[in-house]
Amino acid sequence: MEQTLIVIKPDGVEQKLVGDILSRFEKKEFNILKMKMFNFTKEQAEELYLPHREKSFFSNLVLFIISGPVVAVILEGSTAIEVVRKMIGSTKSYEAAPGTIRGDYGLGLTENIIHASDSKESFERESKIIF
Ligand code: CMP
Repeated sequence: MEQTLIVIKPDGVEQKLVGDILSRFEKKEFNILKMKMFNFTKEQAEELYLPHREKSFFSNLVLFIISGPVVAVILEGSTAIEVVRKMIGSTKSYEAAPGTIRGDYGLGLTENIIHASDSKESFERESKIIF
């Protein structure tokens, strides 16, 4: 069993997608181990997105993730990191395949509904910031 972190971003909460998104992961037989609705502080957001600090979109990314409440969830299941990344779809929602979360619900890039850890190291680092 492996654990991973998802964060339903402010646009996902605003669009009332929390129930649908959690339902997809439950139907896929992931266990919900921890869950929390909260607002990121600027400091937490900058830490979460530390790997992107040199990118041109960094400040917009931080401003967006602190713009409203988010829902963070730790999921557990077989090869959770890889499977969850497949289920959320490509970073660019307009390129994400239909049937994926980003593919079904948006066209944005910075505003792309959901974040998921991309490796065990990211999971360890990111989940410590939130839980
Ligand atoms: P996320 O999975 O949260 O990880 C980093 C985020 O940066 C990504 O989702 C997007 O929201 C955002 N992002 C990635 N690439 C770009 C880009 N080229 N322009 C703007 N935002 C981006």
